[in-house]
Amino acid sequence: MGEKYKWYLDERILQSQKLASIGELSAGIAHEINNPLAIIRQEAEWLQHILKNKEVLDARGVEELKSGLHQIIQEVDRCKDITHRLLDFARKRKPVIQAVELNKIIEDMALLVEREAKHNNIKIIRQYDANLPLIYSDGPLLRQVVLNLLNNAVHAIQKDGDVTITTCLSEDNTIDLIVSDTGCGIPKEHLDKIFDPFFTTKPEGKGTGLGLSICLGIIQRLGGRISVDSAVGQGTTFTIKLPRQPEAGGKNE
Ligand SMILES: Nc1ncnc2c1ncn2[C@@H]1O[C@H](COP(=O)(O)OP(=O)(O)OP(=O)(O)O)[C@@H](O)[C@H]1O
Ligand SMILES: [Mg+2]
Repeated sequence: MGEKYKWYLDERILQSQKLASIGELSAGIAHEINNPLAIIRQEAEWLQHILKNKEVLDARGVEELKSGLHQIIQEVDRCKDITHRLLDFARKRKPVIQAVELNKIIEDMALLVEREAKHNNIKIIRQYDANLPLIYSDGPLLRQVVLNLLNNAVHAIQKDGDVTITTCLSEDNTIDLIVSDTGCGIPKEHLDKIFDPFFTTKPEGKGTGLGLSICLGIIQRLGGRISVDSAVGQGTTFTIKLPRQPEAGGKNE
């Protein structure tokens, strides 16, 4: 097979893979947005019905009206949440590389999550390497990643457990960030799906399933790697390896 032809084939395969993932993504979006839309329509019809059949609204009618409107607002907010997260996902802004104190970023996010975690007797254990060197990376993007991981850990524990955050400079000269939890764990058959957009095991209305796919996209753009290790009933560990500085000509698209 000629080199040129092979290249053409590779390109075709890549293109069809891209199309397949666009198809999957669209199906996911349609599904996610369709549910709230159906509820909004149903509530609006019900309100229309109440208003049509009652010239003067009694107390009960007013209550029904209020509850219908509340439901509509809630579902609209859910759609907004989905579209905002999708935009984050799609926008893929170019990383802005600056000196970053990773421990500080993590601590900011830990404090944010800790308040709610404490209520559920979830302890956040810090094992920060005090001598961690500064890294050249994108702080705001890293904050997003850390927050997603901590939220997932806390959700996986639900009640009573530990989230351990470790940072260190590893032997291969990467900066490692490890988030480990004593939560429910991830079944083997889910492990290769958790980074897919819209994959969630959370109940309807609780998770969009975009958290980890956003994390993966960000870490790749920062030139790092993310991996997961989990045992059902015992817990999960996410490990992120970041370069101390982005490679010249790295994946900054
Ligand atoms: N620490 C964890 N322990 C157990 N399961 C996890 C953990 N982190 C992620 N998962 C699994 O991976 C799925 C996908 O996670 P992801 O963060 O992408 O979406 P989500 O948390 O469900 O929703 P969102 O982050 O959009 O609110 C989760 O629904 C859960 O099943
Ligand atoms: Mg999540």
